[in-house]
Amino acid sequence: MNPLERYAPLVDDEEAFFDACERPLPSVVRVNTIKTTPARAREALDEEGVGYEPAGWHDEILKLDGRSPGTTWPYFHGWLHGQEEVSALPALAVDPEPGEFVWDACAAPGSKTTQLAALMDDTGLLVGNDNNLGRLSALRHNAERLGVTNLAVTNQDARNFSLKPFGSGQFGGYGYDGDDGDSDDDSDDAPDDAAREAFDRALVDAPCSCEGTVRKNPDVLDQWTMDHVHSVAGIQKGILRRAIQATKPGGTVVYSTCTFAPEENEAVLSHALEEEACRMVEFDSPLETVPGVTEWEDEEYHPDVTKAHRVYPHHNDTGGFFCAKLEVEA
Ligand SMILES: C[S@@+](CC[C@H](N)C(=O)[O-])C[C@H]1O[C@@H](n2cnc3c(N)ncnc32)[C@H](O)[C@@H]1O
Repeated sequence: MNPLERYAPLVDDEEAFFDACERPLPSVVRVNTIKTTPARAREALDEEGVGYEPAGWHDEILKLDGRSPGTTWPYFHGWLHGQEEVSALPALAVDPEPGEFVWDACAAPGSKTTQLAALMDDTGLLVGNDNNLGRLSALRHNAERLGVTNLAVTNQDARNFSLKPFGSGQFGGYGYDGDDGDSDDDSDDAPDDAAREAFDRALVDAPCSCEGTVRKNPDVLDQWTMDHVHSVAGIQKGILRRAIQATKPGGTVVYSTCTFAPEENEAVLSHALEEEACRMVEFDSPLETVPGVTEWEDEEYHPDVTKAHRVYPHHNDTGGFFCAKLEVEA
């Protein structure tokens, strides 16, 4: 059975949903404003004879006429980054300010990290973390090509993320001075203490069952199992918990996945709302979305998960996605 059939009761138009899931994704690029402007990037594409169409909802997102973005001159020079349209949502929800201290907990290969850097005008300090070293080299390559200089890269399990390996003084002015406040020797401290209430904002673009990427990678459903959904949901809970604890009261944590499974999305959010000091925040999505669901099979979720956005492929001709914004409470 196609696992996506589970979601027929959730979508408004089953036929349109399944048809969209079978079509390949449009080729989309984001203009990298660290290196250029949307107008100059459009001129460069014109000069190369590459057809494009602005996404309509954002000046920096362009849909290319069929050509792979990696073969264009402006891509090679870091003016453009190939990034699925819907994948631009989380960084916009994080909405970082220049000069802030921001954590991207699951950062590789760096589409959203580099978008966050551009939104921060490449200032402040952005920590891009991932537990997969191989994927981190792709992150570093992308950050270099796109001219990002405000990025520190870390290779940790985000569930136990610590700033201690950086040592004292590295983060002067950015929330962690290397001293967790204990008067005694630090050697017996849990790593958590170093990253508590440190960041202004955090993004958890979580590892997930990836159902919403089926248009890009049709094989993704071949490996789908309910056990994997539950196991990855457990990892997401741990990472989101750490992100909430590591962010200052009043700060923002955005949680996103590219899957439809409520056992991940709404269940993970519900768990955070029940266990951690945080609340859901409404935010406007520039793409058509539907609210998070409060009931699924035999489960009921926190009523505020309706403030999250579900993105179905047939609504905007994109991949599937889920995005929620939280505010950390004292
Ligand atoms: C959805 S991908 C992130 C995509 C990335 N944000 C981007 O926009 O390019 C999820 C990432 O989480 C990483 N990951 C999985 N488990 C992790 C953990 N426990 N701690 C940190 N990263 C983890 C994976 O290696 C993967 O790179």
